Amino acid sequence: MNCLVVAALAVCALVPSVRGASDAIAWCYHQPSCNDTKWPTIAAPFCNGTRQSPIDIVSASATVNDALTAFTFTNYSSTTALTKIENTGKTLKVAIASGVKVSGGDLPETYESLQFHLHWGNGSSVPGSEHTVDGKRYPMELHIVNIKSSLNGNTTLAVADSTGLAALGFFIEVMSGNETGQPASWKNLTSYLTSITNSGDSVKMAPGISLDDLLGGVDRSSYYRYLGSLTTPTCNEAVVWTVFKEPIKVSKDLIDLFSTTLHVSNSSSPLMVNVFRNIQPAQPVSTQAQRSGSASTTCYSLGLMALSFFLGRF
Ligand SMILES: *[C@@H]1O[C@H](CO)[C@@H](O)[C@H](O)[C@H]1NC(C)=O
Ligand SMILES: *[C@@H]1O[C@H](CO)[C@@H](O)[C@H](O)[C@H]1NC(C)=O
Ligand SMILES: *[C@@H]1O[C@H](CO)[C@@H](O)[C@H](O)[C@H]1NC(C)=O
Ligand SMILES: *[C@@H]1O[C@H](CO)[C@@H](O)[C@H](O)[C@H]1NC(C)=O
Ligand SMILES: *[C@@H]1O[C@H](CO)[C@@H](O)[C@H](O)[C@H]1NC(C)=O
Ligand SMILES: *[C@@H]1O[C@H](CO)[C@@H](O)[C@H](O)[C@H]1NC(C)=O
Ligand SMILES: *[C@@H]1O[C@H](CO)[C@@H](O)[C@H](O)[C@H]1NC(C)=O
Ligand SMILES: *[C@@H]1O[C@H](CO)[C@@H](O)[C@H](O)[C@H]1NC(C)=O
Ligand SMILES: [Zn+2]
Repeated sequence: MNCLVVAALAVCALVPSVRGASDAIAWCYHQPSCNDTKWPTIAAPFCNGTRQSPIDIVSASATVNDALTAFTFTNYSSTTALTKIENTGKTLKVAIASGVKVSGGDLPETYESLQFHLHWGNGSSVPGSEHTVDGKRYPMELHIVNIKSSLNGNTTLAVADSTGLAALGFFIEVMSGNETGQPASWKNLTSYLTSITNSGDSVKMAPGISLDDLLGGVDRSSYYRYLGSLTTPTCNEAVVWTVFKEPIKVSKDLIDLFSTTLHVSNSSSPLMVNVFRNIQPAQPVSTQAQRSGSASTTCYSLGLMALSFFLGRF
């Protein structure tokens, strides 16, 4: 997630159009003078904080939390909810219409979905997800940024609230076969890239694809949870993070379009590559108990052990 803004907000792209303090900070990914190693000094006091994102999720260290129930997604099937696609110079951001919401999943209340944006590396062979799992970095990561409904869209309040924002992170992995242009929803999304090659470019999106379409068949009941921050300056520690275990599968040709089409500024500026923050110190992570499938396998094995022990006595 990126950016937050300022006064607003913007989390990453949260609302880039919401101008704020973050606009005032000349941060970047691609130059030593302003890349993420400099954020703790150029964007203190938050980027130098103690619950910063992203993190490496160590699956074996995640504690079991039975409160991590299923989410309820409202209007994620709407084919008119994705309204505008924009090159912010730091990411590709898609605005989400009002009325799209997420609740459940042990979130403290309902959250309104504001926007989603992406992080990537340099083509499918140089991965650029923000979170990593057991050290594995995925080709891309999609962040859906949501704000507590009770804050009525006030991002200033959201970034000052330790759970003011909820970010949903989805890894993107290359499809296993050699198919191209798949899935159709991502073919459609990437068809807009050539219309927004320069920073500040944006176009309206035609009705047709929904968030559900873009998330594919990913199992949204299996995820990691931790408390962290925006992953772009001003790095406010206001984010309840959900990182889903199963990746979205997108064909290699479409993944490669992001790092070969979008520029950080005008057409003579560098291409937007490696747009992710490096890993921050670990935080406590929780997740669901193993699924019943493995649980019953365990019971079965224990049963066999008990049986053999019992038989062994005779
Ligand atoms: C970021 O800047 C540091 C020095 O501040 C440099 O060592 C590092 O290579 C830079 N990384 C990138 C990706 O530019
Ligand atoms: C971050 O920087 C601010 C301002 O310089 C400072 O007050 C604060 O103590 C720093 N926080 C940490 C965790 O170093
Ligand atoms: C879903 O979105 C539609 C408009 O796209 C809106 O009329 C409806 O109220 C929304 N549903 C909810 C539960 O907010
Ligand atoms: C990205 O990949 C392209 C093609 O492989 C290469 O020419 C370019 O130098 C890479 N850019 C960076 C910043 O590594
Ligand atoms: C957000 O809330 C703060 C504090 O209540 C208020 O001062 C500010 O005007 C609000 N911003 C917007 C855009 O409503
Ligand atoms: C992958 O490509 C090979 C040849 O390039 C072809 O024979 C095969 O059918 C393709 N597989 C798929 C799933 O398209
Ligand atoms: C795909 O995107 C184009 C714009 O690039 C749009 O005109 C078209 O309606 C979309 N198709 C579907 C099926 O959503
Ligand atoms: C492109 O942007 C750079 C600064 O990023 C500027 O120096 C240059 O003049 C711009 N070129 C054009 C054609 O606008
Ligand atoms: Zn992000």
